[in-house]
Amino acid sequence: MLEVGGGTASATSYLVAALERRIAEYLFTDLGASFVSAARQEFRNVPFMRFQTLDLESAPAEQGLDGEFFDVIIASNVVHATSDLRQTLSRIASLLAPGGILLMAETLAGQPWIDMTVGITEGWWRFTDLELRPRYPLVDKQSWMALLAEVGFHSVIALPDEEPGILSSQLIFAAVRRTGEHDRKVSSTTSVPQVLIIKSGALDLPHPFAELLAIEASKHGARISIVSSDTRASGQMPVRRSSRRKSRSPG
Ligand SMILES: C[S@@+](CC[C@H](N)C(=O)[O-])C[C@H]1O[C@@H](n2cnc3c(N)ncnc32)[C@H](O)[C@@H]1O
Repeated sequence: MLEVGGGTASATSYLVAALERRIAEYLFTDLGASFVSAARQEFRNVPFMRFQTLDLESAPAEQGLDGEFFDVIIASNVVHATSDLRQTLSRIASLLAPGGILLMAETLAGQPWIDMTVGITEGWWRFTDLELRPRYPLVDKQSWMALLAEVGFHSVIALPDEEPGILSSQLIFAAVRRTGEHDRKVSSTTSVPQVLIIKSGALDLPHPFAELLAIEASKHGARISIVSSDTRASGQMPVRRSSRRKSRSPG
């Protein structure tokens, strides 16, 4: 797995706790060397983690990631911070293996509290893709869905799938990298995608968002595990459920 724009590792800490003994490698990256160095210190005892700086506005091949392909890429509230959304998403797609999955969290446009906080920083206004973002750095759900499809993703979903409200201002997009002609041989040997959903609270309590995510992922043929972050401190991560629907061949 690769995380881009990991920053203060707020998403990372939940993921890493849940991923222990489940993945081979987690590469944490950010533009800022200070974030990378703080993460290296925080996760120094996690054997499957690697750390490096990665600028999403430069070619990955020139930053030591030549020929590296990841099964899953995490991008939590970072893509909007780059100057050109289309180019950034294309670079991210180029780092995914055929059939690999992008999980991207983004806040949607029109949140006044954001303008009064990060909106006063210079970096917030550095976007240059004015045909997509003429006046404001955040875009709406439809624009994200269209962009992801345009740069080479299929089966794009956005959750929660509900009318505008407090919860729907922060969305998680999941998208599968489209398989090119020369990728088909590789993808035919790849295994069923596995989706790990981390919920807050006790495992046996209902959690509508986690349930919804599980249903959507399973519709796309993924094997689902729901775990709770409750036991993070003890290093345990109980799994409540594991399910798998019949896999569809990658498109
Ligand atoms: C809003 S923070 C999100 C941090 C973290 N992922 C989270 O969810 O809390 C945005 C992060 O994106 C990083 N960032 C900004 N531009 C970037 C770029 N061009 N390449 C990689 N990371 C970038 C920043 O350094 C910052 O850590």
